[in-house]
Amino acid sequence: MSNRPNEPKEVINILIVDDIPETRENIKKLLAFEEQEFKVVGSASTGREAIKMTNELKPDIIIMDINMPDMDGIQATNEITKSVPTTAVIMMSVQTETDYMRKAMQAGARYFLLKPVNPDELYSTIRTVYKNHEPIRRQQRALLEMPLEIATRKPAVGALDDEIRAGNILVVYSPSGGSGCTTIATNLASGLMRRGIKVLLIDADLQFGDVGVFLKLQAQSTLVDLVDKVEDLDVEFFDSVVSTHESGLKVLLGPQRPEYADEISDPTAVAGIISKIAHSYDFIVVDTSRRLDELLLSLTDIATRIILVATPTLASVKNARFMIDLFDKMNYVPEKTVMVLNRVEDEKTRNRVTIPTDLIEKHLKRKIEAKIPLNEQVILAAVNKGVPVVANAQKERQKSPVKEFMDFADYLYTMLMTQGDKEDAVPKAEAARKPSGILAGRLGKAN
Ligand SMILES: Nc1ncnc2c1ncn2[C@@H]1O[C@H](COP(=O)(O)OP(=O)(O)O)[C@@H](O)[C@H]1O
Ligand SMILES: [Mg+2]
Repeated sequence: MSNRPNEPKEVINILIVDDIPETRENIKKLLAFEEQEFKVVGSASTGREAIKMTNELKPDIIIMDINMPDMDGIQATNEITKSVPTTAVIMMSVQTETDYMRKAMQAGARYFLLKPVNPDELYSTIRTVYKNHEPIRRQQRALLEMPLEIATRKPAVGALDDEIRAGNILVVYSPSGGSGCTTIATNLASGLMRRGIKVLLIDADLQFGDVGVFLKLQAQSTLVDLVDKVEDLDVEFFDSVVSTHESGLKVLLGPQRPEYADEISDPTAVAGIISKIAHSYDFIVVDTSRRLDELLLSLTDIATRIILVATPTLASVKNARFMIDLFDKMNYVPEKTVMVLNRVEDEKTRNRVTIPTDLIEKHLKRKIEAKIPLNEQVILAAVNKGVPVVANAQKERQKSPVKEFMDFADYLYTMLMTQGDKEDAVPKAEAARKPSGILAGRLGKAN
């Protein structure tokens, strides 16, 4: 029996949040008309209650009122997208102010419904949001199915504590443009996400950053808005300017136009901001531009690890070698730099102009920790969808290039987040963060 067209639909579990009992009842009634498809698993009357119930019930969708006493819908959404990324929030409001909308979207809400709610719009919105959230549910399922060995490893310092996090800063850099920094940064950030781990992706390519494009995110507030506030930056304000990708990943975008970058008079302020909020996250992944300037060096200075990206071409390897020498001169411990080779071709089909990996390792005097294969199809498709390659990780975990990205994320996770038995193993976060002290004036911009 082929029942494709009338296949029973998946039941969508819904939580209703509104402080007014009549509104909750009303929505519940509307949803009851489509009971084969929608199941109301609970209702809450405050933001706080919503958070509690979401943690327990893990609904697929929340219909959330924006204005509530106690804790409002925006704050509750912020918490929920962090703790239960599989839940998608649809915000409900009488207001049409764009400011509300913007705040709700930044908190991670996926859609906006106007009160009073129109039934057809309600149904179609739930269906669309549920469908669009599928890659996220898939990613989370994949995380749950992760090899036990990795999933159960004990996280290091404070990772289970809500206040102080491990604060690992991973700066992704390549002196050659188009090497794949943004591709690697987005996939690494996404691949590092797992239960209980907080990850933030920052676009520090201030002029031509394209993390927003890769993840289809647009933010009103960006890094530029934070720079003047370094002195009295608090975590709450910081959280309010951070955008949330549909995967639950927190993202801080760069300025929307290249010239806005000029508004940042002190480029090292970016590193200042990152240091300040570092311990609210377990991992902060920073995407950078190819420019070798004060901004970059202030970032590599505070980095726990520098992810140095090269491609197997002469020019790229030469530039990578230059950076390795420079980092040596800056007194960075060798382990601080982690080499990644991108656009690696199959040995058999390898083009004659690309250089074999072993030769590159010899020349750089460094081991290459990850090799990301050349794969236009998958990588371009992911960019077009605005979802990192690894967000499709469930079935493809063992397939290239998901495997390489995930293995690399697991490698860094294991190195930095698990309590190693060996004290003398690879230096931990703090040890590798040895400030150079000779940075000032290095680039001839001494004050
Ligand atoms: N391994 C890869 N295989 C195929 N295409 C890739 C790969 N890595 C990156 N790309 C593509 O190359 C282009 C440049 O990558 P990007 O990550 O933007 O580099 P960068 O940030 O270093 O300038 C993008 O179009 C991206 O989709
Ligand atoms: Mg880039």
